[in-house]
Amino acid sequence: MLHIAIDGPASSGKSTLAKALSEALDIIYLDTGAMYRAVTLALQEQAIDLSDIEAVQDVLARIDIDFAASPSGQRVYLNGHDVTEAIRQDDVTNAVSEVAAIKEVRAALVAMQQRFALNQSIVMDGRDIGTVVLPEADYKFYLTASPEIRAERRFAENQAKGLSNQSYEALLESIIQRDAYDSSRAESPLRKASDAIELDNSHMTTEATVAHILNIIRQ
Ligand code: C5P
Repeated sequence: MLHIAIDGPASSGKSTLAKALSEALDIIYLDTGAMYRAVTLALQEQAIDLSDIEAVQDVLARIDIDFAASPSGQRVYLNGHDVTEAIRQDDVTNAVSEVAAIKEVRAALVAMQQRFALNQSIVMDGRDIGTVVLPEADYKFYLTASPEIRAERRFAENQAKGLSNQSYEALLESIIQRDAYDSSRAESPLRKASDAIELDNSHMTTEATVAHILNIIRQ
């Protein structure tokens, strides 16, 4: 069994790396950010006040998040509905850090994530995988890149997918804000696990990053 944890700030290439590792090693990939996004969407759809913890817990108790492979990549389902695109919209992106800072939300999602990892090999990406979700992971990576490069990459991806028409400047601002929020929250903040291998991929291609990490794993 092989457990791989990938953490790092927003748009640092975690999910691209995790998908590539999952294919190369033929193991499952779990996008934990998608789970926080799905909870955020569920709370928004039901117009839940985030300070009403009982109402938040009620939504959590009834939530069902699923993943399914498709030729266009992994699809995300919230209570049976395909929300793959909906969870990438600006409304969700702008609210997700606040939702992810709620202790009860984290407890529910961490438990789900740990169940996914029971008895099977998995690569997970997020913010607290190496520190909280899989502290005993066989490999832990902490992926970074400069905020400007991350914003450039996200801008190009949004343009290609028609996901958002936010300007580069707005994206950069939102990435910096989300990192600051994720790093300073009380509940399992974004930080590098002491035993994680850090990789700044600002000046590396995706292929070079994947090859570098695979080399470490296969050594
Ligand atoms: O990875 P992605 O950018 O989609 O994650 C969205 C948000 O979900 C992050 O900004 C963070 O607030 C939250 N998150 C988290 N812990 C994780 C994964 C994501 O708090 N393991």
